[in-house]
Amino acid sequence: MCGIVGYTGPRRAAPVLVEGLKRLEYRGYDSAGIAVQSGSDLKVIKTVGKIARLKAIVPADLPGTCGIGHTRWATHGGVTDANAHPHRDPTGKIVLVHNGIVENYKGIKEKLQAKGAVFLSETDTEVIAHLIARYYEGDLEKAVKAAVQRLEGTYGIAVMHADEPGRIVGARKGSPLVVGVGEGEMLLASDVTAMVAHTKRVVYMNDGEVADIRPDGFTITDLDDRPVDKRIDSVDWDLGEIEKEGFSCYMEKEIFEQPESIGRALSGRLDAEFATGKLGGLNLTPQQLHSMQRIKIIAAGTSWHAGLVGAYLLESVARIPAAAELASEIRYRNPVVEPNTLFLAVSQSGETADTLYAMREVRRKGGTVLGICNVVGSTIARESDGGVYVHSGPEIAVASTKAFTSQLAAFYTLTLLLARMHDMSPTEGRRFMEALRSVPDKVARTLTLRDQIQAIAKKYAKARDFLFLGRNLMYPLALEGALKLKEISYIHAEGYGAGEIKHGPIALVSPETPSVFLVPDDFLREKTLSNMKEIKARGGPVIAFGVEGDEDVRELADDFIGVPKIDERFYPFLMSAPLQLFAYFCALELNRDVDQPRNLAKSVTVE
Ligand code: F6R
Repeated sequence: MCGIVGYTGPRRAAPVLVEGLKRLEYRGYDSAGIAVQSGSDLKVIKTVGKIARLKAIVPADLPGTCGIGHTRWATHGGVTDANAHPHRDPTGKIVLVHNGIVENYKGIKEKLQAKGAVFLSETDTEVIAHLIARYYEGDLEKAVKAAVQRLEGTYGIAVMHADEPGRIVGARKGSPLVVGVGEGEMLLASDVTAMVAHTKRVVYMNDGEVADIRPDGFTITDLDDRPVDKRIDSVDWDLGEIEKEGFSCYMEKEIFEQPESIGRALSGRLDAEFATGKLGGLNLTPQQLHSMQRIKIIAAGTSWHAGLVGAYLLESVARIPAAAELASEIRYRNPVVEPNTLFLAVSQSGETADTLYAMREVRRKGGTVLGICNVVGSTIARESDGGVYVHSGPEIAVASTKAFTSQLAAFYTLTLLLARMHDMSPTEGRRFMEALRSVPDKVARTLTLRDQIQAIAKKYAKARDFLFLGRNLMYPLALEGALKLKEISYIHAEGYGAGEIKHGPIALVSPETPSVFLVPDDFLREKTLSNMKEIKARGGPVIAFGVEGDEDVRELADDFIGVPKIDERFYPFLMSAPLQLFAYFCALELNRDVDQPRNLAKSVTVE
């Protein structure tokens, strides 16, 4: 949440900052601002609204070659110009942008107020600027280090001082920060998307580290002034991957990328000789992996839904007891961490606070945690004991789509690997592997259903409420379909196990409340058909996502979408894109901002 960016070098800073903020806008988009230094003058320009609005008020010829910027997702204080970042200290010489939450800001603020300090915003951030000013004795880095030691909570900050032109100091605890190493210029940002247009050489900072950047170089030290030896990593994707490339929005582009992104998630990970999965980064010996008697998956939102699919598979196919837990719940439950339990932290961004803190709690108790992440170098990826990168490429739209199916690919590969260590025969392993290999092409076929799905979305987009229903592997997909619809169209939607509706939700059924049924030709098809009949008998419209050629389902449903046939364990892949497209077209119909839905942000770094 919130994106920060900094630039120091020979070029004019303002366009670099505004362009960087545009790339970070998915992290928060209720207000934005920049501070640029020209000589000893620090100019701050900020406004409520999106980056386009900021861009419109930043003068094209704004001088200054060093600056910081911020795009906000409000936590403390409403969406106002005064609460937008950057914030200044009382002397006006220090400017600062912040991502995170200072939990003890109130106490600090009251103490400073008792000494006469006046605050101009309601934010927790402004107290950091005041603190730095109090500690400042001619060296910004020293003052930042002293100030952050008084903070409880999380921060990723970038700070400048009017008397130290060309210098930006960054510090992190719990909120991501990356240094970009250019030729005669340096950048600092919440993630690499903001800097990849300028450099692909990056240094990922860890908690407790402070970066001091100037045009000709950088140092990273810890809070006790000890230098930290950092590796320069190389970003392995191109700017093209974060452009819309002819699509109307990122979500549409990312839905249509799925055949390739799933292919990438599987690439090099299927071992034909032994009919098993190959996952190089787990950092566990085959013996250690074999001895795992239980799997617990921790994640949030869409990643949790992928985890639910993973748990069903690991248990039913690999025969290892498995469960998916909400990260925000498990963390505070004082979880039992038994030996021989493997924990999997699943996160697209690799920065989600709930998942990160739950993972830290499990590791603190001695548990082994593997990460299933998309963003390379992200905090969860770096802090886990090993893991799998899903390689879906940058996901920019706030609603997760391609990362979900790539996470599924990781779970299917892991399931194959573990199943083949236990009971699965080579013949069955080959069958599983072949079905998995066929997924990208079949997903591509589901994308050709786009016009049919759009027509159905047009018909139903005015409904106030939706039910999404499915059994077994389709239950997590029902949850995901409902989440996609509500987050981007703002239509109220509930996902349920289809067998559960008679225990309460069926009371919601009426001619005004459509039910979306997920009905693959699996071993529960007949039972799901009965549930469809129960809805029809009560006058509820039914939209069925079934299998092409399934006339029973087609006849029963008011509207029908048929996906290609596949081994019944693999329908989660084939139902994903149609559900995403349904939500997308409903949102378009209602004129919603698909990529940046209200109140949301990607990369949720607050609890
Ligand atoms: C929904 C969505 C969110 C995220 C959740 C976890 O479309 O994007 O529900 O899935 O915030 O985020 P990650 O996967 O980055 O941990």
